[in-house]
Order: sequence, then C-alpha cells, then structure tokens
Amino acid sequence: MNTNNLHLLERKLLQVMSGRNETELEDLVSDSGLTLDQIRRSVEWLKEKNLIEVKVNEIKLITLGREGESVKQKGLPEKRLVNKLKTGEDIELSELPKKIDLNQDELSAALGYARSEKWIKIFKKDNRVMIRKEGNSTASRVEELLNKISGPTELSNFASEEQEILRSLVKRPDYIAYEIVKKTRIKITKDGLEIARNIKDDNYIDVLTPKMLESGEWRNNTLRPLNVESPAPTIYSGKKHPVRIFIDEVREIFVSLGFQEVEGSIVQSSFWNFDALFTPQDHPAREIQDTFYIANERSSLNVDKQILKNVEGVHKNGADTGSKGWGYQWNIEQARRMVMRTHTTCVSVKNLADNKPDEARVFSVGRVFRNEKVTFKNLVEFHQIEGIVVGKDVTLRDLMGLLTKFYKKLGFDKIKFWPSFFPYTEPSLQSMVYHEGLGKWIELGGMGIFRPEVTKPLGVDNPVLAWGSGLERLVMLRYGIDDVRKLYENDLDWLRGVPSCP
Ligand code: PHE
Repeated sequence: MNTNNLHLLERKLLQVMSGRNETELEDLVSDSGLTLDQIRRSVEWLKEKNLIEVKVNEIKLITLGREGESVKQKGLPEKRLVNKLKTGEDIELSELPKKIDLNQDELSAALGYARSEKWIKIFKKDNRVMIRKEGNSTASRVEELLNKISGPTELSNFASEEQEILRSLVKRPDYIAYEIVKKTRIKITKDGLEIARNIKDDNYIDVLTPKMLESGEWRNNTLRPLNVESPAPTIYSGKKHPVRIFIDEVREIFVSLGFQEVEGSIVQSSFWNFDALFTPQDHPAREIQDTFYIANERSSLNVDKQILKNVEGVHKNGADTGSKGWGYQWNIEQARRMVMRTHTTCVSVKNLADNKPDEARVFSVGRVFRNEKVTFKNLVEFHQIEGIVVGKDVTLRDLMGLLTKFYKKLGFDKIKFWPSFFPYTEPSLQSMVYHEGLGKWIELGGMGIFRPEVTKPLGVDNPVLAWGSGLERLVMLRYGIDDVRKLYENDLDWLRGVPSCP
C-alpha cells in the first residue's frame, strides 16, 4: 500500500501507534495532538484497511444515587433511627416522625432494616403500635462501602464480597446506579507497523490553497491522491410520485396534440354522471354496489331547464333524435342523487352542455370512484384519462388514429380496438395494448361516438368522439408492476428506484 493514500490523520495515528502497545483511545489524545473525534474517525478508516485492530470492552461503572449520597453524609436511616432511641423507653410509632429527621420513605425503610437487624422490636400495647430499642447498631459494611465511592468507580475494582453488597443495594431506591460504558482499545497490526515505518515526514499536504498555486510552492510538496473509488453514501432526493410523473406526461402529450385541459368536480349529481349520458335510471351501474352515493345529499340541479326537459324527453321516447328512448317515466328525483363520480365522462358531457361547441378538443385527468373489492387489479379510487373531439367531419377512424398516436407517444406500440358497448356511444370500442412481458392483450378503456340522445339535448349538433381510459393500468405497464396497490402503498424502496425520467 502506498502511504500517500493515507489521510493526514491516519498517518499521524499510525506513527503514534507504532511506538505503543494496546492503548485506550482516550490516552492517545495528548500524544497524537488529535482530538478524540479525529482519533475515532481515523480508527474507523485504519480498521477498514486492516492497519489497526480494535477491541471494545464493556465496563460497568458504579455511581452513588441521591439516597446513596445522603447516606454517605448522614448514615443509614436505620442507624439514625436506633441512635435516637433510648434503651428501656417505649415509644409510640406515631410519635417517631416528630423525634427523628427522616422522611416517610426513609422512616419505613429504617423500621424494616432495624427490625431485621434485631435492633428494635415493634409490638402492640392497648391498641397502640409501640417501638422498643433491643440492641445497639453496629458498624455497617454498607456505610463503609458507600464511603469508598466517590465518582464513577469500576465494578471490577471491588472485592467479591463488596460486589455482593452492591448487588443487594440495588433494592434500595436511589442508593447506587450502574452505568455501562464502552472502552475502545486499539493495537497496530503487522501491516500497520510496516506502513508506519515507511511514512516519511516530508512535506505532505492534503489541502491545496490558492496561495500554494500562486507561489508554485505546491511543487515542493507531496499531494495526497484522492481515492475516487471509495464508496459514497447514496442520496435520495425528493421527487414526484410515479403516478404524478405519468399524469404530467399524459398532459404534455394531449397539449402537444392541440387539446385543452378541463376539470370537473369529484362529487356530481346523478344527472351529469348518468342521465345526461343516456344511462337508464335502472342501469345496473347505478346500483349501490357500483356507485358511492352521498347520503342525504340532493342536487338542486341548477341546469338549463331546456336541457332537463330534453334529457327527460330522450329517456322517455327519444324525442327528436330518431331513437325510441328507454320507454319509461324519467324521474328527476333520481337525477338529483349525489354520487362520487364513477367516471370522468361527466366532465366531458358537462363541458359540451356549457359550451355547445361546433369544434373542440378537450381532455381531463381525474380521480373516479367505484364500490368494488380492492384486488391486484382493482382499486376503489383510481384515475381516468378522458377526452372529446367535436367537429363536423370527425369519424371513428379519427378517434382510433388519435388514441393510437397517444398510446404510441407513451411507448405502447401494439394497439388494437374491439367492439364494445356503452349506453352513451354508438358505435363503441374498447382499446387494448399488448404487454410484451405478460404476453397478453390488456384492456385500457372505452371510446366511441356520443349518441344523438346525448348530444342533441345539450344543443350540440356535430359528432362528438369520446374516450375514457384507465390511468393506473398504463402506469403499471410502464413500470412493470403486476399489482395496482403497489402504486399507493408508499413502499419507499420502490418509490426510490423508479427513475424520474422515463
Ligand atoms: N366512461 C367509460 C368507462 O368508464 C369510458 C368511456 C368514455 C367510454 C367515453 C366511451 C366514451 O369505462
């Protein structure tokens, strides 16, 4: 090993240690001129390099507690008690506190120990508890021992008898305290000695100053080389959640395709979530097990009266759309029920009602809620990517082209469309992407052309292409995850491993 690879502190410590046997760290401070902290650090480094050996000993120290100190000054309470008593004089127990300077705890301990030493006797006379002195207190080993302790003392310095007494003293609160300290001793190894011998006290520097550069003085010194291969701590910087990163990416794609982003409320009336989308009032999706209804909340349905009437009309008999409708009495009270939106399609349809565009490209990303069992592929709360294109000549082919482009931009190349059904679109399709890893086609979402039963009541005449796609599925495909729950369980290992840039 090249001695130049050593830090100045290491060189210093090795040199000092080459002239010493096993040494305690604290003892090196004065010899080495280093601080204890510097010694500790260089010991760590030198240990890694096998140049010194480290031994850690645990030492038990005894110190006096508060009571122990007081006993050292005033004597044991049981002795103080007995010394106050006169032979042949019985005293009532309740009189004692007045006579003796002991607090309640000390007094009861004193009574107990004095009785067990047979210095006193406690007895009853005429229903009074009395105390009589039976013998004189003797010299106490405990007091002798306590007197020996001033400041922390190593347990091993006491004779074994004394250690026995110390152990029994633990029972008396606050007499003594044990403390365990670690003592580190180090010894230079054979390799260490070899290297220490080669350390020359030449002009060795490990900090280069501007002054040295200016004067050229650095030429006369040996510079410590830096070890660029030495391991460094991994730093985890704060960053966005992978789902957030993905949503931002989705936004960027749609904006680049000329779309405008819109938002809607998470809580909606059934009217916008279902009725305006020509979803019949007895549709299974509206049933409690799929939809979270907000208890006792009814919407005032602050909607253009004409739209309400039109929607009622298409549900009843199709009105002027050429459809027969659902053929039932539409109930406005059903439409007032508030729900946690089950899809973001309500954002699109509300946008149509508000703006009645002849042409538009609008998208939204938001949370939706479904009362389903949480599994590896289902969450109760998840995200959808939704959008519409309005235009005089737009066709289903345009929609397929648009989504193909969107998925491709996200990195999914194999896409196919499959006929499907939604109450509000005709024709309807399902989009699917091929997952190479899993070797199968995965359903992503629905799409189609809004039915006239949806658009006409709102006053929109041009065809409207619409789609709604699950977001979490895409995120899972992106990161190769096979359980959606993973996305939201805040598993730090996983979150840290996800690259910030795809
Ligand atoms: N709302 C449908 C869903 O949640 C998706 C969809 C949106 C289908 C727009 C057609 C048109 O699955």
